[in-house]
Amino acid sequence: MGSMRASPLPLLASSSSIFFFLLLPLLLCSPVAADGGTTPTVASPPSSPAAPATAVGDLASSNGDAAAVPPAAAPTAPLVEVKHHHLRRELIIAIALASIAGVTIVLAALYAGVMWQRYRRTPDDFKDTQSTDTARIALVPILNNFNSFKSSKKCLVAMMEYTSLEKATGNFSDSNVLGIGGFGCVYKANFDGGFVAAVKRLGGEDQEYEKEFENELDLLQRIRHSNIVSLVGFCIHEDNRFIVYELMENGSLETQLHGPSHGSALSWHIRMKIALDTARGLEYLHEHCSPPIIHRDLKSSNILLDSDFNAKISDFGLAVSSGNRSKGNLKLSGTLGYVAPEYLLDGKLTEKSDVYAFGVVLLELLLGRRPIEKMAPSQCQSIVTWAMPQLIDRSKLPTIIDPVIKNTMDLKHLYQVAAVAVLCVQPEPSYRPLITDVLHSLIPLVPMELGGSLRATLESPRVSQHRSPC
Ligand SMILES: Nc1ncnc2c1ncn2[C@@H]1O[C@H](COP(=O)(O)OP(=O)(O)O)[C@@H](O)[C@H]1O
Ligand SMILES: [Mg+2]
Repeated sequence: MGSMRASPLPLLASSSSIFFFLLLPLLLCSPVAADGGTTPTVASPPSSPAAPATAVGDLASSNGDAAAVPPAAAPTAPLVEVKHHHLRRELIIAIALASIAGVTIVLAALYAGVMWQRYRRTPDDFKDTQSTDTARIALVPILNNFNSFKSSKKCLVAMMEYTSLEKATGNFSDSNVLGIGGFGCVYKANFDGGFVAAVKRLGGEDQEYEKEFENELDLLQRIRHSNIVSLVGFCIHEDNRFIVYELMENGSLETQLHGPSHGSALSWHIRMKIALDTARGLEYLHEHCSPPIIHRDLKSSNILLDSDFNAKISDFGLAVSSGNRSKGNLKLSGTLGYVAPEYLLDGKLTEKSDVYAFGVVLLELLLGRRPIEKMAPSQCQSIVTWAMPQLIDRSKLPTIIDPVIKNTMDLKHLYQVAAVAVLCVQPEPSYRPLITDVLHSLIPLVPMELGGSLRATLESPRVSQHRSPC
């Protein structure tokens, strides 16, 4: 990501100020500038051979060398008077020009200040200017450039009109609900011209949604990565806040795994690809953002899948830049079942908290179980405590795999992935791998055509299981 780049505007402002400051003495010193080149050289009679002498020479002599003029050579009294009179005129002109230059500097500085404020406008500022649907940026030109700006590092986010969101979502109709979040629903939106997107509406009594809205906008507008959901625009209307994202046609990993289809759309290789894509997104946040970003709420409902099952990390409402995490006001947040023990117990937040959550997602992918399952009305069990003893037992492991993918993978690969998952959910954070290491261990397990390096000769899974040296 780009850390926030400094705007060129202050530079312009300061350079224009410097320009003026450099120009000012020149303006004051240069007689051509001082009198506009029109002052006759009255000190020298027109007929004098010295007449072509430069105005600079004249001004210099009138400024300081008058005393050096020998009395004998002094012209008649009226000429001295004319010279003094002219001197005063030049002084007045110089002062006037200096004042004009001064006013120009002040105006330039004010203008630069205003432009700088506009450029740096944060979501906080949007509240002030956006409440009445004014100051809109036309959506269509930005959407026309959608593909190009996805790869751009520039922050191009459309401020969208409420009426266009209302129309595109069929007045936020239930039939367009894609998912339900903590502060409202996410809707499918069909805009004029055939552009489709997902619109998250945030609102309610709890003012926390405003913080999450601002946080998500602030971070997402600075992040562009193929495994992070793209931000398209936003809107503020009365008490509601809206975030518009690229549409992820296959919804969330949670719905795919635990919804009506129970993971049947997700083959072993697709699951490995989803794990790899998620690791790539996390690696980008941890290793390539400056300062690093900790997602803090990685879970299967925040991993979205596009029409080709490319996975992208979403929901940055709780994410923090590492620079901010030491601030005492950071509220303990996350989702039970995914929260790392050291964060839950001691509030200790590091990139390794995301690695723990990633391990839980990996277990969900392998086992097809939810991170916390109800055993009895008052008894819950976490996937980690339930699975841990069986994950490290090679004879038991194949028996606990999601029935949908059972016996469809090379056992050697299964053991490898299980070992990665076990490492990621270690209670001691320093025993967990970095996400970069996880990423590199997954690449050989994903077929090349799905973004990994596995040269897959797609054999009958059962055959490959028997052939496995393990
Ligand atoms: N871009 C999107 N495309 C498709 N579905 C989405 C999209 N964004 C969110 N959803 C759906 O809405 C759900 C809630 O969205 P999310 O951003 O996680 O909200 P919250 O911050 O309230 O958890 C997701 O789990 C997913 O099912
Ligand atoms: Mg969410």
